[in-house]
Amino acid sequence: AMETQDVVREELGSLHGMPLYKCFIESWPQVEAFQARPDDLLIATYPKSGTTWLSEILDMIYQDGDVEKCRRDAIFNRVPFLEMKAPRIASGVEQLEKTPSPRLVKTHLPVHLLPKSFQDKGCKVIYMARNPKDVVISYYYFYQMAKMHPDPGTLAEFLETFIAGKVAYGSWYEHVRGWWEKKQEKQLLYLFYEDMKKDPRQEVQKILHFLGKEVAEGTVTRILHHTSFQEMKKNPAANYETMPTALMDHSLSPFIRKGIAGDWKNHFTVAQNERFDQHYQKHMAGSGLHFQMEV
Ligand code: PPS
Repeated sequence: AMETQDVVREELGSLHGMPLYKCFIESWPQVEAFQARPDDLLIATYPKSGTTWLSEILDMIYQDGDVEKCRRDAIFNRVPFLEMKAPRIASGVEQLEKTPSPRLVKTHLPVHLLPKSFQDKGCKVIYMARNPKDVVISYYYFYQMAKMHPDPGTLAEFLETFIAGKVAYGSWYEHVRGWWEKKQEKQLLYLFYEDMKKDPRQEVQKILHFLGKEVAEGTVTRILHHTSFQEMKKNPAANYETMPTALMDHSLSPFIRKGIAGDWKNHFTVAQNERFDQHYQKHMAGSGLHFQMEV
């Protein structure tokens, strides 16, 4: 049987040309055949774009602002990760099959690899995007602490790997653009991490409107408090500290790390920033997408 040590620092494989963890690829047939339910809500993101934040917000909305209910289990069990597969634990699909409706489902899949069933069943999707400079920095720290990733090397090396789309889940550019092209569909709400930082109340209201839910003003206030960076950082049900250390070592870098827009400025050299900007402009031209690199 597959053991934890087999996935530690393993090279990535390729899923239809997209770099991905080999154990996820092995169970891809089950993911592809996944049966969505019409009332599933899909949370889709490129990694490190605010998935956990959005997941906690949605669970709070689903639990009507009941903080204690949101402590019932770790976020990765409350919002199962569709394509996840690791040694000795239930896969995302197995977890989801046991989850009562209405389910919240997390995925990092690019839109073209999403199992067909989500579209067939007309499921709602909330996509959250984050500016790529902060994504690459967050991903760099995550590669270090989450041991299913290959060694990221130096930041300079990792920046090149990211720009080349050779990190897990491939090109950030294709990911955000692919999902943006679906944005005209009524069933998709496209959000930005930076907007959530600037005005979380407004973004939560957008989510409530999209879900057709009305909640009391005081409930919104409670949701905002419980899902603030400081609260999530100290909440064991939200901060991933219950993951086995063999898979995530928070002493190397905590999962809930800094939570700001613009941390890349503490890491990029002027030359790296110019290089990044050039590549960004080339790959985002004509997309109609605009990212705030700081707020
Ligand atoms: S993952 O592994 O892809 O699911 O990671 P993800 O949750 O998408 O992204 C992790 C980053 O989100 C930050 N985070 C938050 N920012 C602001 N407010 C809140 N409440 C919050 N919760 C998590 C987290 O700190 C990671 O970003 P960095 O820049 O590394 O701090």
